Amino acid sequence: MADRSLLILAGDGIGPEVMAEVRRVIDWFAEARGLAFTVEEDLVGGAAYDVHGAPLADATMAKAQQVDAVLLGAVGGPKYDALDFSVKPERGLLRLRKEMDLFANLRPAQCFEALADASSLKREVIAGLDIMIVRELTSGVYFGSPRGVGVEDGKRVGVNTQRYTEDEIARVARAAFDLAMKRDRRLCSMEKANVMESGVLWREVVTEVGRDYPDVALSHMYADAGAMQLVRWPKQFDVIVTDNLFGDILSDIAAMLTGSLGMLPSASLGAPMANGRPKALYEPVHGSAPDIAGQGLANPIACILSFAMALRYSFALGEEADRLERAVEQVLAQGLRTPDLMTVGGGRKVGTRDMGDAIIAQLQASL
Ligand code: NAD
Ligand code: IPM
Ligand code: MN
Repeated sequence: MADRSLLILAGDGIGPEVMAEVRRVIDWFAEARGLAFTVEEDLVGGAAYDVHGAPLADATMAKAQQVDAVLLGAVGGPKYDALDFSVKPERGLLRLRKEMDLFANLRPAQCFEALADASSLKREVIAGLDIMIVRELTSGVYFGSPRGVGVEDGKRVGVNTQRYTEDEIARVARAAFDLAMKRDRRLCSMEKANVMESGVLWREVVTEVGRDYPDVALSHMYADAGAMQLVRWPKQFDVIVTDNLFGDILSDIAAMLTGSLGMLPSASLGAPMANGRPKALYEPVHGSAPDIAGQGLANPIACILSFAMALRYSFALGEEADRLERAVEQVLAQGLRTPDLMTVGGGRKVGTRDMGDAIIAQLQASL
């Protein structure tokens, strides 16, 4: 195995469009910084279903287990909406998360200064925002059983089960406390302990883990109130830790604080492998955006910033990650905007490819 191995799963819709720009960024790092990556590409989601009749082939799963990092674009689309649940594109992504045991999903929401007016929220609410949502990713209602649609007394019944073991809560809590230690040392845990027993256990276990982190100020909030506070005054937060479903919802809310869903990257991390690197998958928080797919309009920044997270968390290349993030910041400061970032009268409208070109030009200028 090469020193740095990547598996690219571009997926569906805008996935391949935004991933094409990441591919060029990877090539730039190889040529200009001497950072070689072994890159393999494969299918996931609807693209895999079309070829294999399943949203993730076993051979692809096996490859994902062996590489240092998986880069994923997006999965899903209207063409596949009527498929049986077991072969829906989204199942491919869920299988990767589950079988790689990627329990800690890091979703940082940072507001770049140039975009402080692009959000639907007021500038003073979001300028300078820098928060990290840590979402549990391998358990909870996404995976609990029993599940399914059955019939009781002649009526259909839909069932899903929220289930957490104390070990599952403790390991994601530890990941969140560790991150908080490297940041502003504040952690807010969100659940619904007022109505859910799993939330009561969540609160207890996070509190117990917190005894090992006396320097981190731990607070708790009900997730509904947390959603409200994220929109009211998000800068009160540093790190948030929450379960799989609440984390899904809260991170889409947080995305809008940054200006667009097209801006939010993520890292999904598991246990360390034999080479010391964590099992890892990097993906934008957004989906396949069927409404704009195939038009060259998608914002590639969330996917590019996900690669920056790979540089930082998988390859200990924090300075190169900073370089890439700065290049994105500068391009935004120059006024380039994909359509999702356009505000009234603001910026020069560009497509996916132009945005990639500009970011690479800034990388080049950083040398
Ligand atoms: P979505 O994130 O695909 O799109 C929501 C809205 O945001 C759309 O208006 C879209 O145009 C816009 N948007 C998203 N990403 C953008 C980008 N990079 N640049 C510009 N605009 C962007 O969510 P959806 O419409 O609810 O879901 C569409 C499909 O994607 C569904 O099949 C869903 O299951 C799937 N999905 C996949 C992932 C993933 O692969 N990780 C995440 C979310 C949704
Ligand atoms: C996300 C997505 C996924 C989720 C879907 C596509 C399975 O919405 O990563 O936020 O619900 O986790
Ligand atoms: Mn989501």
